[in-house]
Order: sequence, then C-alpha cells, then structure tokens
Amino acid sequence: MTTAAKTKPETPPAKRRPPRFHRLNVRDVRKETDDAVSLAFDIPDELAADYLFTPGQYVTLRRAGDTDGVRRCYSVSSGRDDGELRVLVKRLEGGVFSSFVHDELTPGTELDVMTPEGTFGAKIQRGGPRTYLALAAGSGITPIISIIRSVLSADPEASFILFYGNRTLSSIIFRDELNDLKDTYPERLSLFHTLTREGTDSPLFSGRLDAEKLRKFAGALFDPKAIDDAFLCGPAELIQELRAELCALGVAENCIHDELFAPAGDGNIAPVVRAPIAAETAPGEGVEVTAILDGTSRTFVMTDDQESVVTAAAAAGIELPYSCKGGMCSTCRAKVIEGEAEMTLNYALEPWELKENFVLTCQARPKTEKLTVDFDHV
Ligand code: FES
Repeated sequence: MTTAAKTKPETPPAKRRPPRFHRLNVRDVRKETDDAVSLAFDIPDELAADYLFTPGQYVTLRRAGDTDGVRRCYSVSSGRDDGELRVLVKRLEGGVFSSFVHDELTPGTELDVMTPEGTFGAKIQRGGPRTYLALAAGSGITPIISIIRSVLSADPEASFILFYGNRTLSSIIFRDELNDLKDTYPERLSLFHTLTREGTDSPLFSGRLDAEKLRKFAGALFDPKAIDDAFLCGPAELIQELRAELCALGVAENCIHDELFAPAGDGNIAPVVRAPIAAETAPGEGVEVTAILDGTSRTFVMTDDQESVVTAAAAAGIELPYSCKGGMCSTCRAKVIEGEAEMTLNYALEPWELKENFVLTCQARPKTEKLTVDFDHV
C-alpha cells in the first residue's frame, strides 16, 4: 500500500536526520518535453515521514543497488498539496544517468531514492500580502514551480511574478502546468516567457534572460522595491549575474535565494587543483577524522592524496551522505565541532551556515590534526 508524499513540518526538528536511500518503485513516467521526463514514485506508508518535503527540495537517485555507481540529484516539481513526489529528469548529452532514465526506465522500475534535501524554499515567510519574484532558466523551473504551486495554494494573499527563459516554445518545461496555474490564479501569478531562438510578440521577450533584460523588466513589469523574496534557479553563471543585478536594482541581498544547477552538464564539475591537507602531519601519516552520523561516531585517517572527507571515509569503508560531489547540492553538509576544515568549492552553503561552521564534506579537507564533523546537526 502506498500513500501520498507530504511536506515537512514547518518547524524543523532539533536534530536533523541525515539523508538516506530507500528503494522506491517508479509509479509514473511522463514526457514533459522532447528532452525532459518527470518521474513519480510510490511511497510505502512506513516511509511516508521520510519523504516529507518542503517546496524547493531535491532527491538523489541512483540505480537500485548501485552503491558505488552514478548518483544524481533532481529537484522536486510537485507542490506541497499535490499528493505525490515528482522529479524532473532532463536528458543531457553524454549523461549516464539521464540516458538510463530516458532510454530504459519504465513505470515499475525500482530506484534507490535518497530522502529529500535542500534549503532553497526553506526561507519562505508564510502569510500576509507578500510579493515573490522568480527567475528561472530551462530545467531551473523545477524547484520554482514547486514553490509557486505551494505558496499560491497556501497563502491567499501572496502573489508571484515569474520570468522564465527558454530556447523555443516547445522547450518550455511544464508549459501547460504553468498556464493552468495562471488560469487558477489570474490575479496572483504574472507569467512572462523569454525565448532565445524563436520570435515573440515583443522584442522585450526575445533573447536571453540576463541582467540587461532584467533591468528592462524592472519598472515596466515589476517594482523591485515591492519584492519580498526572490527565487533564482538555473546555470551558475547566469544566476550569479541575475543576483548581482537584483541587488543593483534594490532588492535586499538576504531576500534573494538561489539554487545553482551543475555548470558542466550531468554533474560533471570542472576539475579543481587540490591543496595539500593544511594540517601538519609527518610524512605518510594522516589526519584523524571523526564523522558523527545517526548518533554514531566513526573515526578514520585521511591522507594527503585523498580529496575530501567523503572520499577518505569511503576508502575506509564508511559511507557518508553525498550526491553531486561538486559543492552544489549540500547533501554532504555537516557541522565542524572539533578542529577546522577548508573547502575547495562551495556553491551551496549560505553565509550563516559558514559562520556556524557548516562545511560540505565532499569539498572539505582538514586544517588541523583532528577533525570532527557532525551530520546530525540542523
Ligand atoms: S555532495 Fe553535493 S555538495 Fe557535496
């Protein structure tokens, strides 16, 4: 027997449950565009609480039982009241996992699905006449549509302005769903598409959704000073450009929330030069690292040739939570409670998390002779 996925409680638990995989059955595979499908899962009653999600979160998928294989994270597209957990998978050229999903996966296929993670939509203030702005490009619409659906259905006074950039009309993901939302909330959802490879009625909507375009939209189509929160999702470079422009237009930086999609295709992050472990150790020796997960401490040694806490743990036979391994998703987030660590990349943690000593363990290397990281901290 299965049940609908429900959203996570508004008040987070004092201790976080680290993400974990469960095997789920794919209930539905739906073609969204020529190169995008969405998947919905059967969630057994006994796992319903594990798959509570907040709008804007994502899940990590891997083939059933493929513990060392490719894993990819995909944003949830369903809203909090939709009664299902649905994610979007876009086919990426050379993408091992997305090709498997598009070419082989059918309803009834089992996948290992990690419990939902991510804080993109967590800062939504509930209630009152709030105005939200959303900027999305391509498959960046996925967490955004979940947030829009959820906010508009829950808060009768909230309104959303969405600018969504694509190449052509046929490449617009969730086009029908967006039109349905517009029909349902004609006064509260303002929807604008920009297209790069197809003509539009107005030159204003032709071309890339970039800083220059955003400047033209401001004033003509929305008032930056009236925006309570802005949600941005798409390729990293574009989102950084749009964020800077929103700040220049007067939107408070702490009201801008972004989710960056991998910069180089199917999770292929550009390689980076690795710094040596900063802690001073004798040649051949390593640093003692302790990871606390589900209340259990495990200690292992990390040597200079190991790129991160996650890979050092794996070499010691300890599986820590991770997904993208590229500093993008925060599945591997943990709090440093002893010692210090430095990260090679960080696209996921916010300033308050850095201040409170959270790190991405897929990017973290010790700076001290001992390091303890706690995955159970909220
Ligand atoms: S696994 Fe995605 S940021 Fe570390």
